[in-house]
Amino acid sequence: MNSSASAKTILFGEHAVVYGEPAIAIPLPNLRTYAEIRTDNNEFRIISENTGLNKAYNDLDPTSGIKHLIDLLISELQLDELPHATLMIRSDIPIASGLGSGAAMSVAVIREFARYFDKNLSSGEINEIAFEIEKIYHGFPSGIDNTTITYETPIIFSKSGGFSRFSADVTKLPLLIVDSGIRSRTVDAVTDVRNNYENNKKYLRLIGLLVKKAERKLKEGNLEEIGMLMNENQHLLAQIGVSCEEIDQYISIAEVNRALGSKITGAGRGGNFLVLAQNREHACELKKLYENIGLRVFL
Ligand code: PMV
Repeated sequence: MNSSASAKTILFGEHAVVYGEPAIAIPLPNLRTYAEIRTDNNEFRIISENTGLNKAYNDLDPTSGIKHLIDLLISELQLDELPHATLMIRSDIPIASGLGSGAAMSVAVIREFARYFDKNLSSGEINEIAFEIEKIYHGFPSGIDNTTITYETPIIFSKSGGFSRFSADVTKLPLLIVDSGIRSRTVDAVTDVRNNYENNKKYLRLIGLLVKKAERKLKEGNLEEIGMLMNENQHLLAQIGVSCEEIDQYISIAEVNRALGSKITGAGRGGNFLVLAQNREHACELKKLYENIGLRVFL
């Protein structure tokens, strides 16, 4: 397919980032969503292999993210009408599982519209359009998903300070991303954290402080301390109610098998979790363990 966008994983700081704290995220370039507009004789139709969507533009649910996205693109790109064509979307990214599948879909479709209609969109413009759609998926998005995915680079991000590229090579960490297989909507977790804000605010602040420490430790490449901070971050995420029993059990497998640290990534309540291994071989051992109990693992 012609256009694509990567998944992302948040290493430290999810949820707190919604309240202005910093967070660190990296793109996952090997896990992608693809989009292609194919000219044909049909009315404008959208086919998404993963979600089973196969509808003409006029029949789309008016509240859906894809309808909002296409309408926004019509206005931003000043299109007079949609062509006789099919927009095909295919994704390798598991949905509702913390890896930014919604933002990746938006960015891939935006890039494909710009290509098909021969319009120039800067990364900043792509990021802004994707952020508008994130509001539909997340309710109160921080913007970290669309930013990491648009720029496809490791970043440290905050709502007020924007983002800067992360200078340390965090892509070489012996890190496993494990899919619990439990799907959980970001908007539900984000809304529950907000509804309980008075109780949660001290934990959200502590997460913000922890991210600053993690930034230093990642730059130093100190794996043991990075692992300890991941465990602390997970503990704080559990306090705000975004872990769940199954994730706690899967994380205890990591602990028993000498992983340096583990935590959920993204909205939580299921989805994916991270495990920091001691080195590459150890990561392969842990990968086998999780695969043996039927979980999908990305290295
Ligand atoms: O679960 P995901 O991939 O949608 O990530 C959500 C990250 C949150 O911090 C929970 C929300 C946000 O907008 O930052």
